[in-house]
Amino acid sequence: MSEATRVPRPIPLATKPRPRAAGRPGSGKTACIRTFGCQMNVHDSDRMRRMILDAGYAEVNAYEDADIVILNTCYVRENAVDRVRGHLGELNRLRKEGRVKKVALTGCIGAAEESETLRRQFGIDLVLGTHNTYELAEFVGLPTMEETYTPDLPGTEGEHAAFVTIMTGCNYQCSYCIVPTVRGRMVCRSKESVLSEVDRLVASGTRYVTLLGQTVDAWRHEGDRFCDLLEAVADRAPRVSFTTSHPSNMEDRTLEAIGQKDTIVKRLHLPVQSGSDRMLRVMHRGYKAERYRRKIGVFREAAPDGTLSTDIIVGHPGETEEDHEATLGLVEDCAFDSAYVFKFSPREGTEAASLGEVVPPKVAQRRFLEVLRAVEGNAFARNQRKIGGTEEVYVRHGANEDGRAIGETWSGHAVHLRTEATPGEYVRVAIESAGPHVLYAGDPLVETGSG
Ligand code: SAH
Ligand code: SF4
Ligand code: F3S
Repeated sequence: MSEATRVPRPIPLATKPRPRAAGRPGSGKTACIRTFGCQMNVHDSDRMRRMILDAGYAEVNAYEDADIVILNTCYVRENAVDRVRGHLGELNRLRKEGRVKKVALTGCIGAAEESETLRRQFGIDLVLGTHNTYELAEFVGLPTMEETYTPDLPGTEGEHAAFVTIMTGCNYQCSYCIVPTVRGRMVCRSKESVLSEVDRLVASGTRYVTLLGQTVDAWRHEGDRFCDLLEAVADRAPRVSFTTSHPSNMEDRTLEAIGQKDTIVKRLHLPVQSGSDRMLRVMHRGYKAERYRRKIGVFREAAPDGTLSTDIIVGHPGETEEDHEATLGLVEDCAFDSAYVFKFSPREGTEAASLGEVVPPKVAQRRFLEVLRAVEGNAFARNQRKIGGTEEVYVRHGANEDGRAIGETWSGHAVHLRTEATPGEYVRVAIESAGPHVLYAGDPLVETGSG
C-alpha cells in the first residue's frame, strides 16, 4: 500500500486545521462521508474515500469538522429517505453557521427523480447517481476522470478486509423493489479483472475478500458461472465470503463449495422474502418455497455448522393471514441464524406501489413482530448450542475503549471478545454465552497469529 493511499486519522474538532491552499495534500481540507444502505454503498464509499484522499482532504467523522459532506444514500424503503432528510436538515443548519461548506448527495437516491426535489429543498451542491460516481473527482478538485464502469474504479487497498464488486445492477423485476431502477441492469465484470483485483489486494495485505453484487450467483462471463469464480477467488485469498444470492440462480455446487473450500466462510445469505408460493408469484421471485427449502437442505448438509440468514418482507399488498402463516412455517423449517425482516414500503414506480389489497399498518406491524420473534427464537436456540465450544475467530474490529473487539467465526457467527489482536488476526476463544445476534467469548486461549 502506497503512502498516498493511507487513510489519515480523523481530526478532532478542537484541532480542526485552518483551510490553506486548495488542492494539495496537507492543505487542511476536510471531508466527511456518511454511508446509508447496503454493502454496495459501503464499497462505493470506499471508492469515493480514495478520491477525497487523493484530492488532499483529510477524512473526519463529524459533520461539524468537515468542509465537504458526502451523503451516500439508499432508496430501498421510505424510512431510508426519511433518515437522509433528517441529515440534510442538520447539514443546512451547519452550513448557515458556516461550518460545513458543501454538501454532495450520491448513491441510490441520487439516481432517483426525487433527488431533484431534495436538491432544491435543501440546496444540495452536487447530486450524483450510481453510474457517474467518477464525477465526484471534479467536485473535490481532481482532474476530470473519464467515464469508468463503476466496478473498475479502484477501491481502497491495503485494508485487512475488502469488498470486490463482481457485478452491478439487477436483471430481476421484483414487484416491490426499486433497486433495478436506481442501479440499472446487471453488468458482470470479467473474471480476469476480478482475479487481478483479488491478487492485488492480497499482495497488499488484504486477508478477507467479500464478493459483492445484488445477485452474485447470477454472475456469468464467457462460459464461467459464479461457482467457477468463487472457487478461483477461494484459491487466491485466505478468507472469502459473498453477498447477496438469489434462490433462482443458486447452484447446488456453490452450496457444496461453501462446505468444501477451507477458505470460504460457511455463511449463506439467501433472501426468501415470503414462505407463500402465492406471494412469491405476486412478487415475481421466480421460485417456490419448496425449491428454497431444498436449497437450504443442500446447504445444511454441505456445511452443518454454517450460518444461514435471509430477508423477509411482511405486509406486501395482497398478503393474507394464510400467506403469513406460510412464512412462519418456512421460518420454523429453515431455522435461520438471523434474518432481516422488513415491513413493505411502497416505492413509486414499482409494480407493488400501485397494487390494491393494501395490508393495514396494524396488521403489518403484528406480522412483523411475529416473524421477528420466530426468527429470534430459532437464532437464540442455535447460538446457545455454541456455548462451551472453542472457535477460531477472525478479528474484524479491534478493541474499543471498553476493550471489546468484534470478530467472526469460520461459520459466520459474530463474536464479541476481549483481545489486543489487531483486525485481520485470528484468535482462539471459548464461547461463554450467547444472545440471538452474537456469541460472547471468554479470554483468548492461544493467539494463533495472522492467517
Ligand atoms: N438483491 C437482494 C437484496 C435487495 S434489497 C435480493 O435480491 O434479495 C434488500 C432487501 O430489502 C430485500 O431483500 C427485501 O427484503 C427488502 N426490500 C426491498 N424493497 C423493499 C420494499 N419496497 N419494502 C420493504 N422491503 C424491501
Ligand atoms: Fe431487488 Fe429483486 Fe433485484 Fe433483489 S433480485 S435487487 S429484491 S429486484
Ligand atoms: Fe439501498 Fe441502493 Fe443498496 S437502494 S439497498 S443502497 S442498492
